[in-house]
Amino acid sequence: MEARFRGKAALVAGGTGGLGQAVSLGFLKEGASVHVTYRSEAEYARVKDEAGQSAGSLIGHRADATDEKETADLVRKIGAIDIVVNAVGAYAGGTPLWETAVETFDRMMALNLRSGFVLARCAVPILLRQGSGVFINIASRAAMDHAAGAGAYVASKAAALAMMDSLAADLKGTGVRVNTILPGIIDTGANRKAMPDADFAKWPKPEKIAEVILFLSSEASSLIHGAAVPVYGAN
Ligand SMILES: NC(=O)c1ccc[n+]([C@@H]2O[C@H](COP(=O)([O-])OP(=O)(O)OC[C@H]3O[C@@H](n4cnc5c(N)ncnc54)[C@H](OP(=O)(O)O)[C@@H]3O)[C@@H](O)[C@H]2O)c1
Repeated sequence: MEARFRGKAALVAGGTGGLGQAVSLGFLKEGASVHVTYRSEAEYARVKDEAGQSAGSLIGHRADATDEKETADLVRKIGAIDIVVNAVGAYAGGTPLWETAVETFDRMMALNLRSGFVLARCAVPILLRQGSGVFINIASRAAMDHAAGAGAYVASKAAALAMMDSLAADLKGTGVRVNTILPGIIDTGANRKAMPDADFAKWPKPEKIAEVILFLSSEASSLIHGAAVPVYGAN
């Protein structure tokens, strides 16, 4: 097993979620100390259990990634951070825009857009002080493909993508890299439950997407900055 991240500290916001968990476990396997935000104690306990022998390098923080004060306190507490992955997000769809509740719109903006803004605001200054680091934001294929029935979701993901593009321009020449990941439907437990009749074999596994995220966090991807990387295979 390679240990590309030995001595590195990663913060995975939403690191106990369907994708976040695979990312957290991937970093742990390769030697990083991994800080995850969680909301449910049970979810965190499950990931800690999955981490097995590496569990000692997994540190959980109950925090709301859309709340600036909580996130600033969290980042201050962690201290040195080399890699930030924002895997916080949520989906809402199934209604045309005019029937979408204002609360749904606000929730999409908070979880899919504001989380990345707050994390960048709190963590990028640390990466800049070090003169190195990686920030990866998970957007969605829907940031580019604007299907019907998901106006608030696609708007939040398209805005998140644009925001990271601008952040990449801000970070030019600093040694800090930022990239966006664009998943389609991922083979998570939640998706299987929501779409029981779908062909699960067609959906990328979280672990395969985590491999791409680990690559983008590694030295081997030092030339990749400001990219939006599709991770939905040839589907
Ligand atoms: N799953 C897909 O098919 C798919 C497709 C395209 C894009 N994506 C994107 O990929 C990312 C990960 O998706 P996923 O399927 O892993 O979602 P998920 O399983 O719902 O995980 C999201 C994680 O974020 C946490 N979270 C929610 N609100 C938070 C907050 N305010 N502060 C801190 N953490 C919070 C959740 O905690 P709780 O569980 O406690 O709420 C959960 O751990 C998201 O950005 C999603 O939009 C997913």
